Amino acid sequence: MEENILEEASQEAESAENSRALYEVKMKYLGRTGKISLLLKKMKEIAQEERPAFGKKINDLREKLEAHFEKLEEKIKQKELEHKLKNERIDVTMPGKRKKEGVLHPVTRVKNELIDVFAGMGFEIYEGPEIESEYYNFTALNTPADHPARDMQDTFYVTDEFLLRTQTSAAQIRVMEKKKPPIKILSPGRVFRSDDDATHSPMFHQMEGLVVDKNITLCDLQGMLDEFARSVFSDSSKTRLRPSYFPFTEPSVEVDVSCASCGGKGCSLCKGTGWIEVLGAGMVNRRVLENCGVDPDEYSGFAFGMGVERIAMLKYGINNIKLLTENDVRFLEQFKD
Ligand code: PHE
Repeated sequence: MEENILEEASQEAESAENSRALYEVKMKYLGRTGKISLLLKKMKEIAQEERPAFGKKINDLREKLEAHFEKLEEKIKQKELEHKLKNERIDVTMPGKRKKEGVLHPVTRVKNELIDVFAGMGFEIYEGPEIESEYYNFTALNTPADHPARDMQDTFYVTDEFLLRTQTSAAQIRVMEKKKPPIKILSPGRVFRSDDDATHSPMFHQMEGLVVDKNITLCDLQGMLDEFARSVFSDSSKTRLRPSYFPFTEPSVEVDVSCASCGGKGCSLCKGTGWIEVLGAGMVNRRVLENCGVDPDEYSGFAFGMGVERIAMLKYGINNIKLLTENDVRFLEQFKD
């Protein structure tokens, strides 16, 4: 009978297809209620003198079975592992999925660069609202209604009183009203004008600078602009001031930077002059200081305002401002580091 059990168990075990099935067969024979346990229970029915021999037989049988199952278990585990390795194999030669990396828009790049340059000189950033009142955009900046200078900037009105700001200069007033000198702020942001050609767009970005303290002069302005030109254009860049007019500065200047493309000799970019107009600036008009409660006999200041798109166009040789708003990926991709 015992031989039968061994035979039977090995046949069943051999046909087990996986470790789970093999375990079930094992329990059928070696488990707590398995066939071996049942045999041992029969011990009681056997004559006293035959018991030791019977016990030994059963134990031998159990050992044989255990050894047998152990071998099979190992074999089946190995088979299962091989199967798994084969099925879960990764084909490392398969082409991967390429992730397209984005780049910063040239306007954002130049804006960040300008902020870095001026923050390095101690300027704080202040951002004003895009919808402004006429007062902040014009009147407080010494441009009352019917002042001819209002025509310099074609304005989009939202209501009779509110408009889309035409210049970041509005930020000068907001800052001076709240803060006493010394003031050193940089105000980046979008501005809007009804203007549209190859170098003008109805929406563009400006960067306004304002410094107010005791004994500020035009020399301080030029020294700082020289530093700006060297950082943004080239180490050998120079600046030149030309007289100009803005209602909120007196004197007012137009600032030219030596042409980085020809080094000042004259080329098509600078139209043969060696200089490129980059921004407007000047000493803050006494009236503007007074409008904000700053005593013009005690304090003086300078302000400057530049177009971010214009700087980007000069820096990267872009000839049409529309390229900066069309967002054609083929154009933008060229601005990888
Ligand atoms: N706000 C002027 C413009 O938009 C630029 C400017 C700023 C000029 C500050 C002087 C001082 O044209």
